[in-house]
Amino acid sequence: MKSVSPRSTVSPRRTAFRITGSLVLLASAVLGLQALAIGYDLEREIWFLRATGYIGLAALFLSLSITPIHRLASRLQSRRLPPAHWLAFRRTFGITAALAGLAHGTLAFTTYLDWNWQTLGATPYLRAGLVTLAILTALLLTSFPSLLKLFRVRLWQHLHRLAYIAALFLLQHLLLAPFAPRKLTLVLFAGLLLVAALRFLPLPKKQ
Ligand code: HEM
Repeated sequence: MKSVSPRSTVSPRRTAFRITGSLVLLASAVLGLQALAIGYDLEREIWFLRATGYIGLAALFLSLSITPIHRLASRLQSRRLPPAHWLAFRRTFGITAALAGLAHGTLAFTTYLDWNWQTLGATPYLRAGLVTLAILTALLLTSFPSLLKLFRVRLWQHLHRLAYIAALFLLQHLLLAPFAPRKLTLVLFAGLLLVAALRFLPLPKKQ
């Protein structure tokens, strides 16, 4: 009888979900503990606002880096992770980016902006944040198999390239935000651009 290796029984999606979930839980625990040390409510709100914003940014960057890094790994003939795992990680990082963005946007709107719709629409950096969030939410809704059935696979692939447009609006959000560090923003986005360029590496010819 053919033996089934234990590796093949764990689905890539479940592995990606467990690893990403553990990372998010760890980050939340560290950030939560640090927030306990903050004495003022207002400071704590800003702390959570920033933390959720940076978690969203990190998850979006990781999601956008998966395909280029996969290309590089194929080029280096590394077969450690099968393609389905790369895709599963891209998906869970994308979902994390959207959920963190939703938490950040809701927090900003209910605390920092005091439910003021007018400011949200009239301030360029907030508008850019809103567009980023709208794109990430659209991608989130098309990331679930049951909803995916409504879309053809090709359409899904085109739609998910919009994540790059989301990154551009995020860049605008940060460059125009009054207190976001501009140098750090430029360094982070330059790094993302470099990694994204790996996407154009030619794949090795199949023998
Ligand atoms: C409705 C959508 C959004 C609103 C209303 C919003 C609002 C804000 C506000 C009020 C700030 C603080 C500005 C400052 O301190 O200078 C901020 C900063 C930030 N936002 Fe957003 N945002 C939105 C969407 C997003 C999304 C989708 C992401 C990431 C995926 C994001 C990531 C960040 C980051 C990284 C910062 C910088 C924090 C800092 O260092 O000051 N934002 N946002």
